Parts: sequence; structure tokens; C-alpha cells
Amino acid sequence: MPDHFVLPSDPCAGDDACDRRAFLRRGAAVVAGLAALGLTADDALALPVSHVTGLASHSGETASYPIPAKDGVLMDDKRDVILARHKGIVTAFLLVCPHKGTNPLDWSAAKNEFICPKHKSRFQPSGMRIEGKADRAMDRYAVSRQGNMVVVALDRIFEQDKDAAGWAAAQLAV
Ligand code: FES
Repeated sequence: MPDHFVLPSDPCAGDDACDRRAFLRRGAAVVAGLAALGLTADDALALPVSHVTGLASHSGETASYPIPAKDGVLMDDKRDVILARHKGIVTAFLLVCPHKGTNPLDWSAAKNEFICPKHKSRFQPSGMRIEGKADRAMDRYAVSRQGNMVVVALDRIFEQDKDAAGWAAAQLAV
């Protein structure tokens, strides 16, 4: 594994841009959600969230991540990528909400959905819109597989309302 790939266990290691307060807010929201359901963090078997920094290519046009071994959500604040594995399908999303294009999305492990903290738009793990001010699904990056890595094309973003076929195809079965 490259020495500058940040393991999920340390959300801010090696990442100067890491927003610790945002991370703590997310963590507190997850814990509060679990507590409301009478669960502890150890009970959260559904799509856990981790924080990583992908390995950037020399040109900076791609970011690579080890193929997730099991279902879950990886948040890469530095590269503006959310990598989600759900039911054996890996999808890379733009980190920001498609409504305004500026607000980072959060993952709710308690509800198994993405939520925009700004206006509360909600999305399925596939990125499909559930409800809210956003008028389309979460934007997806083009993805490909190279060995045991998922390669995310940071310069190829699909918006569901402009390219439905491209958006739908931007996934990997693993
Ligand atoms: S910015 Fe996300 S719903 Fe408005």
C-alpha cells in the first residue's frame, strides 16, 4: 500500500485540509442517531463510515482507493470524493450536495442514507434522491478498476439530469 494512503482509523492523519470540527459533528450525529435507536456504535452493522485520503495520480486527475472489502462509506474530504460500497456495488460521488454544489454531504449510519446538513436533502446509498431541495441524485464520478484499486476520474463527473445513461453506468460491481 502506498505510504501516503491514510488508513480509515485516523481521519485527519496526513491531511492538512481535514476539518476536525466537521468530523466531530458527523461523529456526534451518528452517535446521537444510534442512541435514539437504542444502539451503540458496536451495533452499527449497516454501512459504517470511515475517513480516508485517496492516492492522487501524478497529474492529479485521478484518485485511487483499495477496493472496499465490505459494504461501507469512505469520505475523502481532501479529494471531494465519497466512495460507497453497497450490496457489492462501488460508486464514487462528488462530496458536495447537488443543490448548491458547495455543502459537503454527511452519511447517516443510523438511517443508511446521505443527508445534506444545509437544507436536509436526503439520498439513498446509490445516490438516488429521496427528498429535499436538491432536484437530482448525487453527482457521480467515472470509476474503473485497476487490480485491487478503484480509480476515480476526478475530472469526469456525471449529473443525473444531464446524462442519465452516463450517471447510471458510473458504478463498479466488485
Ligand atoms: S445545499 Fe443541500 S439541500 Fe440545499
